[in-house]
Amino acid sequence: MRPTVAPFPTTRLRRTRRTAALRALTRETTLSVGDLIWPIFVRDGENVLEEVPSMPGVMRRSIDRAVAAAEEAADLGIPAICLFPYTDPSLKTELCEEAWSPDNLSNRTIRAIKAAVPEIAVMTDIALDPYNANGHDGIVRDGIIVNDETVEALVKMALAQAEAGADILGPSDMMDGRIGAMRKALEAAGHCDITIMSYSAKYASAFYGPFRDAVGASGALKGDKKTYQMDPANSDEALRLIERDLMEGADMVMVKPGMPYLDICRRVKDAFAVPTYAYQVSGEYAMLMAAAQNGWLDREKVMMESLMSFKRAGCDGILTYFAPEAAALLGRD
Ligand code: PBG
Repeated sequence: MRPTVAPFPTTRLRRTRRTAALRALTRETTLSVGDLIWPIFVRDGENVLEEVPSMPGVMRRSIDRAVAAAEEAADLGIPAICLFPYTDPSLKTELCEEAWSPDNLSNRTIRAIKAAVPEIAVMTDIALDPYNANGHDGIVRDGIIVNDETVEALVKMALAQAEAGADILGPSDMMDGRIGAMRKALEAAGHCDITIMSYSAKYASAFYGPFRDAVGASGALKGDKKTYQMDPANSDEALRLIERDLMEGADMVMVKPGMPYLDICRRVKDAFAVPTYAYQVSGEYAMLMAAAQNGWLDREKVMMESLMSFKRAGCDGILTYFAPEAAALLGRD
């Protein structure tokens, strides 16, 4: 039973807010460096650091620079880094064969990071969009994004990433049946301990705009992703997707985007009590940075407040482009 609040002045709720010490004692939620996953963009070349124009401060890095970023993350105490490849347009095809090449950019980066910084968890992205001439997350036939054929391709991609040494696989494609198919294939191949963080409740959102610039998918995409990503108007459907993915073998689940979907995070945590993550996506980062660059918002303060909001909403962790900056402020656990 919730205690009733005695009337004023017996209760003065400002009493516990009076000093920093009292506020610390009554703080309900904590944010720590162990809650952060840092998404980074990887490209070909050597010693290349190239800023993504719509994401100030966010870089595309050549593999050697990605390894340096992983070292920086480990030094800061960030537990995981998540890789997104910027694929050369000449490698994009209708059947997306580059997606499961053992030597694609993503798999080479996994191996390089795991060799240099074995303690950091490497998370991947499983979807065909970086490799697809159509820019879609799935294979397109006669204008339709075909589900089952895409799942076969995604399974090959998952196995190649597992072979390369990934710790956390991140299927972000929103096809039906992919988690079960991947889990079965991973078990059969002896990859019994690899974790899957499913992008289970991923919405068809306009907040992904800057990311598509970062991975070079904006120009390629024909149409939209509404036949596979969720309708922003829906909430019950998110619970069905999460439950389905858990039943199929997901170890962790994700809600994406983050800030406009905190209600979904809360419902998921309350309903399933499983490891739950949110992705503070590129457009969320871009809007906070743009306002900060104009002097309209205090960057550090809105960064920390936005990250805390995910914890308050029930998330166990956050994928955020702010990870290194936030980690530096938070200090090691
Ligand atoms: C690809 C993928 C996307 C993001 C992560 N994986 C883009 C999309 O679905 O179009 C978005 C991340 C971000 O905006 O920061 N399937």
